[in-house]
Amino acid sequence: MKPQPRVSLIATPHKGIRNFLSRVSLEAGSVDYTNREAITGLKQHFEEICLLLEEHAASENNFILPALEARIPGSAAHDEADHESLGNLQASLLSKLEYLLRSGLTGQEARQLGYEFYQGLSRLHASHLEHMLEEETVTQVLMWQHFTDEEMLQIHEQVIRSIAPSVMLTWMKYILPAQTPAERVQLLSGLQANSPTPFFQQVMEVAKRILTSQAFNELEEELKAVPIS
Ligand SMILES: [Fe+2]
Repeated sequence: MKPQPRVSLIATPHKGIRNFLSRVSLEAGSVDYTNREAITGLKQHFEEICLLLEEHAASENNFILPALEARIPGSAAHDEADHESLGNLQASLLSKLEYLLRSGLTGQEARQLGYEFYQGLSRLHASHLEHMLEEETVTQVLMWQHFTDEEMLQIHEQVIRSIAPSVMLTWMKYILPAQTPAERVQLLSGLQANSPTPFFQQVMEVAKRILTSQAFNELEEELKAVPIS
């Protein structure tokens, strides 16, 4: 029998993060920085992903890293320091967009500042990719060595309980299209079993809006076939 893959607390949100960082990087590279409406749209998208990045770092800082630190003293410091520097970089990028929206900039100044924002976003994107890979190949491996799957599922429950429903719906927008069909079924069957029906219906509405109709229909069929435990 094939061994079951171990529980991961980070693989799912990391897929969503890789998705939205790619999207916003593309938008930041192609937007007209002299067009106020377009910059407002970019800022809204960036603020949305900042919220998710903050929520994700808080989940790791508040639940995952303290559990790891308690078993392996000194093991959390590197990831915590990364979270702090990534948060600072994110805040400086947000103020650049706010500055861009102030009136009085010439077209040339707006284009120059826009390009600086794009480069800074590229640094944020690259730093997150490196940070997530390290968490998946170093932090996660340490967790597997020192925690059982049951213990990790308990931490997972604490993380899920800490996420506001509206934030969870925003996560779904980015996570679902980034997953394999099997991962999607696994994630949503868990939500189906453990969330109130009205919330799960909202999740399915997000899925319908964000997935191709073929992917959504397949998902719906698979979920119907999942035995209710
Ligand atoms: Fe992290």
